[in-house]
Amino acid sequence: MRIHNFIPALLAAFALTCATAPAQTVKIGMINTYSGPLAAAGEQMDRGAKLYMKLHEKDLPPGVTIELIKRDDTGPNPEVAKRLAQELITRDKAQLLTGVIWTPNALAMAPLLTEAKVPFVIMNAGTAMITTKSPYIARVSFTLWQSNYLLGTWAAKNGLKNVYTLVSDFAPGIDSETAFTKAFTDAGGAIAGAVRMPVTTVDFAPFLQRAQDAKPDAVFCFVPAAKQATGFMKAFGELGMKAAGIKLIGPGDLTTDEELNGMGDPAIGTITMHHYSAAGDRPANKAFVAAYQAEFGAKEEPSFVVADAYDAMAALYHVVIAQHGNIDPDKTMELLKGWKYDSPRGPIEIDPETRDIVQNEYLRRVDKVDGQLRNTELETIPMVKDPWKELNKAK
Ligand code: PHB
Repeated sequence: MRIHNFIPALLAAFALTCATAPAQTVKIGMINTYSGPLAAAGEQMDRGAKLYMKLHEKDLPPGVTIELIKRDDTGPNPEVAKRLAQELITRDKAQLLTGVIWTPNALAMAPLLTEAKVPFVIMNAGTAMITTKSPYIARVSFTLWQSNYLLGTWAAKNGLKNVYTLVSDFAPGIDSETAFTKAFTDAGGAIAGAVRMPVTTVDFAPFLQRAQDAKPDAVFCFVPAAKQATGFMKAFGELGMKAAGIKLIGPGDLTTDEELNGMGDPAIGTITMHHYSAAGDRPANKAFVAAYQAEFGAKEEPSFVVADAYDAMAALYHVVIAQHGNIDPDKTMELLKGWKYDSPRGPIEIDPETRDIVQNEYLRRVDKVDGQLRNTELETIPMVKDPWKELNKAK
């Protein structure tokens, strides 16, 4: 090529590159619990986000990068979460928000999202009504109604007549209690007693003692996943409730995979309903668990919090890629509605009407296999929509 042909060609190529791939950094604010007594679930969430970004950075269009700005809400502290969201939006110019273990924190953020038009992809917080609080919220995690409403029906149909409910006294606990009780009593079951425990309690023995005295067929429990679930399980074992013939049931938060081996034998036989089990034998899950163990250690089991954060990142990558890094809030919400993904937990979808997750629920039992405790999936209930929204729609 002659020089007078070459230079215009070079300029044209340069112009084309600029037009198709302008350098774009998308700022995503992630609010998570990185410190305080309830930080263990936060670490799981952080790992899920980190793993997805490591494996999929290569999927971003040329010139597009993601900057994840992490902030610590220190636990269920709505005032802190609200302030952090405000700062992320106004000072750090975050275009998207994600994270959030705790329902009260997500609720405190909702008005800001609407006002500033900032899309928020929830990685955990599971109280059903959260998504109704702003049109800029989409949830990739779960609702407590999804697991516990189905568990209530299962319990009544599988020989449990009297169940004593114990839940943490805040929104996800109350959702768990309400969903389980409605389905269980609608199907003929009776509630032997219902007690709500302080959110941050670590001493479960007095509550379990009262439950034991009521002689129910089973105790139903929701406590936040991670260390509190382990504390609950240990107290259940120490009081000899299993030996007394009282079964333990609940959502999968109670037998969270990363803690299961630390819970020990009292956990064996616990029946839970949940959307993710590290023991699931789907190919996407096998690959996910292998990648997780390669990154964080061969003995580490990813909990549902890891899987949910990983999937939320997949949703965020989807909107970033589809818009070539030029984030428009309303376009982002349209892209999230109806988004489908072959997740480690099975097929998932964001309901276009409610912006909430639609996914399989699995009935599971804690088993000991080769000396290791695991949540064995026994039955699959496919593509469950949030029952709370379904029931309210029907009215
Ligand atoms: C919530 O606050 O919504 C929440 C917290 C911990 C869980 C589940 C839900 O394990």
